[in-house]
Amino acid sequence: MNNNIRIYQGNVIFTPKPKEFKIYNKGYIVVINGKVEGVYENLPEKYSSQDVIDYGDKLIIPGMNDLHCHAPQFRNLGMAMDKELIPWLNDYTFPEESKYKDLEYAKKMYGRFIKEIWRQGTTRIAIYATIHKEASVLLIDMLTKSGLGALVGKVNMDRNSPDFLIESLEDSLKDTEELLDKYSSSQLVKPIITPRFVPTCSSKLMSGLGDLSEKYDAPVQSHLSENKGEIRWVQDLYPNSNYYGEVYNDFKLFGQKPTLMAHCSFSTEEELELMKKNNVMAVHCPSSNLNVGSGMMPIRKFLDKGISVALGSDISGGHTSSIFKTMVYAIEVSKLFWADSDKKIDFLSNSEAFYLATKGGGSFFGNVGSFEKGYDFDALVIDDNDLNHDNYTLEERLERFIYIGDDRNILHRYVCGNLIDESQITVI
Ligand code: GUN
Ligand code: FE
Repeated sequence: MNNNIRIYQGNVIFTPKPKEFKIYNKGYIVVINGKVEGVYENLPEKYSSQDVIDYGDKLIIPGMNDLHCHAPQFRNLGMAMDKELIPWLNDYTFPEESKYKDLEYAKKMYGRFIKEIWRQGTTRIAIYATIHKEASVLLIDMLTKSGLGALVGKVNMDRNSPDFLIESLEDSLKDTEELLDKYSSSQLVKPIITPRFVPTCSSKLMSGLGDLSEKYDAPVQSHLSENKGEIRWVQDLYPNSNYYGEVYNDFKLFGQKPTLMAHCSFSTEEELELMKKNNVMAVHCPSSNLNVGSGMMPIRKFLDKGISVALGSDISGGHTSSIFKTMVYAIEVSKLFWADSDKKIDFLSNSEAFYLATKGGGSFFGNVGSFEKGYDFDALVIDDNDLNHDNYTLEERLERFIYIGDDRNILHRYVCGNLIDESQITVI
């Protein structure tokens, strides 16, 4: 096999472990066939004849992973932020999502959405589309063309949904299976089973989705214990259940295959135990939780219990698609728990937040989110020259970019060793 070797030089920063940054000042990353071979202070002799792509004094960091996001809510960013969850869904979110039965509209808006996540340095993303099969196929195809990595869910909703955004049990299962059949063996953009949340899915639908997950070995994503009214609603629908997550579990949608559950603001001890046991990944969406006033995931409790945690933008409950800004919100809200607990509950350190956004979330996609040997080379090159970096340490420069930088500081984006160019994204 003809090995394709690329060598990058720059200030390399990543987090193999949550507690500390690994930093190479003007180090070298050797990438073979899109995967990291090694990171070095000095380039090993055997590579001395190779060309080096020299990024000078710029930072090279892993790409951002967004583990919870609704692409068809993109037009609603920064709107209706004075509503709480259920009225927000009924009055703004569902009407907007219903527009995606129109493929021209979907093409226009999904192009803008992909451009935005590309701009913000998100290299892998778990996405909710809508109930519409054709628009979901379009989103998968457009993402594939872009070169970004994604899991895309055709959303399932067969009850407690408005007339203009509901599907029959039969169509919901048939359309979901068609996507699984067509795309499960794809490389970078694949389907994920997406019951919207318990209230909008009948028991028969959830049971069918659990069977499909098993049949296609397919991952699952949904919402969990986000808001107290929503939790009471689930309890009314399933009076014999002990807690929300148990309902998903009864339908084989809670870790039987790799599973993402967003929010978890009010998860009970039993729910946490089952998440831990079944290796369900909790997706923390602090911007969304603040905006729709749902509550807040007590992140330290999850980390202490050893539950896997990732970050999500939750567009458009969250108002920013930047995972860098999501990191900042996660750190800030963790400090409220810290202050409220008389400093007994530690807040998130910078390296912990960075880990969640990179290796933590990336683990859902495979060896993603780090520069350890064998990891996919998903990377961002950061030019922070305009942030006046004289005399700052590399760690301080990264912190300042995360807090006060933006997409203008992101020079290049790589996924699996491929430079992702803006021209691969069609915006009409
Ligand atoms: N619960 C069910 N649907 C949604 C959604 O679109 N966004 C959020 N934040 N929560 C939900
Ligand atoms: Fe959501």
